[in-house]
Amino acid sequence: CGIVGYVGGQSALDVVIAGLRRLEYRGYDSAGVAVLADGGLAAAKKAGKLANLEKELSDRPLPSGPAGVGHTRWATHGGPTDANAHPHLDNAGRVAVVHNGIIENFAQLREELAERGHELLSETDTEVVSHLLAECFSASGDLAEAMRQVCRRLEGAFTLVAVSADDPDVVVGARRNSPLVVGVGDGENFLASDVAAFIAHTREAIELGQDQVVELRREGVTVTDFDGATADVRRYHVDWDASAAEKGGYDYFMLKEIAEQPKAVADTLLGRIDAAGELRLDEVRIPDSVLREIEKVVIVACGTAFHAGMIAKYAIEHWTRIPCETELASEFRYRDPIMDSRTLVIAISQSGETMDTLMALRHAREQGAKVLAICNTNGSTIPRESDAVLYTHAGPEVAVASTKAFLTQLVACYLVALYLGQVRGTKWGDEVLAVIKELSAMGTHVEEVLTTMEPVRELARGLADKNTVLFLGRHVGYPVAMEGALKLKELAYMHAEGFAAGELKHGPIALIEEDLPVVVVVPSPRGRSVLHDKIVSNIQEIRARGARTIVIAEEGDATVRPYADHLIEIPQTPTLLQPLVATVPLQVFACELATARGNEVDQPRNLAKSVTVE
Ligand code: G6P
Repeated sequence: CGIVGYVGGQSALDVVIAGLRRLEYRGYDSAGVAVLADGGLAAAKKAGKLANLEKELSDRPLPSGPAGVGHTRWATHGGPTDANAHPHLDNAGRVAVVHNGIIENFAQLREELAERGHELLSETDTEVVSHLLAECFSASGDLAEAMRQVCRRLEGAFTLVAVSADDPDVVVGARRNSPLVVGVGDGENFLASDVAAFIAHTREAIELGQDQVVELRREGVTVTDFDGATADVRRYHVDWDASAAEKGGYDYFMLKEIAEQPKAVADTLLGRIDAAGELRLDEVRIPDSVLREIEKVVIVACGTAFHAGMIAKYAIEHWTRIPCETELASEFRYRDPIMDSRTLVIAISQSGETMDTLMALRHAREQGAKVLAICNTNGSTIPRESDAVLYTHAGPEVAVASTKAFLTQLVACYLVALYLGQVRGTKWGDEVLAVIKELSAMGTHVEEVLTTMEPVRELARGLADKNTVLFLGRHVGYPVAMEGALKLKELAYMHAEGFAAGELKHGPIALIEEDLPVVVVVPSPRGRSVLHDKIVSNIQEIRARGARTIVIAEEGDATVRPYADHLIEIPQTPTLLQPLVATVPLQVFACELATARGNEVDQPRNLAKSVTVE
């Protein structure tokens, strides 16, 4: 979910709505606002996208005062209805609360409140907070103190922002787990899940830490812990501007973000390779002596980031000979994995706030493992809680389906793998140096791919009425196949599966029927050519059974041509780096198919970009 709070001289309603527009990527099941006006609270909320709320507000305008809160929801407790939309008010309508997370003990709190005569109107866990807060506030007369008291009673993940008609000069927020950032303005202050919500007003931000309560007034910001002791906070300057989070002439954010990939790749490499062609990752503040002792690497991530992690495993094991496993963060956390101080855990996350990944890294640190985050969001929770961080420099990614963040995660993974090789010495010393050189050329290769995408778009349009598409790959092409399938599920709502091509004969081949589209990612015929030969056989096997083959292969790969019903050529690169170019056509393919099927590209149904619940 996305939450916003504002206090200052502008119309709170306008500021909050504009903020929600920037946060809609976080959930779009419903949206709502509450503003302090005329001595009371004026609220509106609507199921569905923000546009529904905006329409409601133009039909029935709200008065606006100097403070307010807003919310855009990804539903957890209770379906996406008007009643379940936030803000939630107490029975007297004097306190309004918005919430991101899950309050685990809400049932018990609800019962208590009902016994005391409160009438709860929604099915949400959030509503208990507005009632509890109203009770504590009427007792203490201090909204921040009331928030601290309530937080001490809550279990689970909760980031909250609240206002009360009985103290119209203040907005309070509380943070446990899900993010909350303060925007520090001049005579006005902001609270939001993400700086994007207030970047048009200020680039000065304060990241709230775990278990902190903030009191926001026009003239200042006070941060305490849940017991009221003054808390240390980190103030920082946001180094991108509002235009970075705008579509800039593209129909969709996703198209813009696909197009930005060459730059994102180059920016992620920038300053990390020195004149001698060696890596300089000074920001990875884990001493080389510790990295030399690492006996195992475990990569944890979710969704697209998990696919980057799968590719990293091939690179790390090949270049460093350190055993490496990649696991879904949600599975890893709960299976009692074996780790110690010689385990390096790499947590990959675009947002830096995915709860499954955060819980996995906390568990890893409790076991004594060292944690390195690969993250795209400065100051977010996952890097804050890790021993070190390597930032990807993709810039803000708004479309729910990840593209440029994925490519930069790959670059960061290669950098870590090569760096480990460099620090520890590897029998592939020359190869490592050569690959570092090749890596610096990858931005240009991605650019080349982008100039040849028209046939891919045309192909996608022709497949709009299909129900299923399969994806096959071997080696690093296997995670690429999985990523291609994920993109298609997310965007085109088609049944799509990515398989290891060698596994095909052990089951999935039964799915092949006449004219079924199968995308095959073919490794380079140079170098590890055994792989290439095997996949050419796999293509023949599916073609013999009627599949329509869509082959992604290196330029100049003549052997594969006779078996490709559609050939998509990508530049020649070392096998391990091929995912950087092989993924791009799959992104374009999924985006175009979604458009052809009339789907919403940037905000696919049921999804949210950053999932802050487990
Ligand atoms: C969500 C998004 C995915 C993303 C995943 C991990 O499910 O819809 O696109 O890959 O979270 O996100 P992260 O921010 O941790 O990379």
